[in-house]
Amino acid sequence: MTFDVLKPKITAIISSSSSTDHSLQLICELLKAEIHHYDWVGFYFKNGDKKELKLGPYSGTPTDHTIIPFGKGICGQVAVSNQNFVVPDVKSQDNYIACSLTVKSEIVIPLFVDGKNIGQIDIDSNTTDPFTDADERFLEFVCQSVATLM
Ligand code: SME
Repeated sequence: MTFDVLKPKITAIISSSSSTDHSLQLICELLKAEIHHYDWVGFYFKNGDKKELKLGPYSGTPTDHTIIPFGKGICGQVAVSNQNFVVPDVKSQDNYIACSLTVKSEIVIPLFVDGKNIGQIDIDSNTTDPFTDADERFLEFVCQSVATLM
């Protein structure tokens, strides 16, 4: 399914679902099912006042990394940098937390509410170098849509 077809589906989930977590779960499942190069899709959020991320809803293989300190791994770096992070090949990254040996690449997009970085969407792919600008723009749209629920 193309990003243009998926966008209204994201909007529909946001406007119709009963709870935020349920909406996020449906979004994870939709993206994993419909985008071939998305093999694990999840949200991490700042854990209260702590300088760490906590795993929220996700779709894919369960991960041991339910808590990630700020600065650690790709996710922890995005918590600090406030920037998109596209990793075409995870083997090239020293500061990377492996969740599964099948993962070849990763993209993390921060989620802002009132200008504050409160979390992120994290996608793992079993394909090397699959992400383009179109993925970044689409995932920014997803994060902006989710921000309206926060
Ligand atoms: N690879 C991530 C950890 C989270 S898993 O991909 C689910 C990282 O380096 O931060």
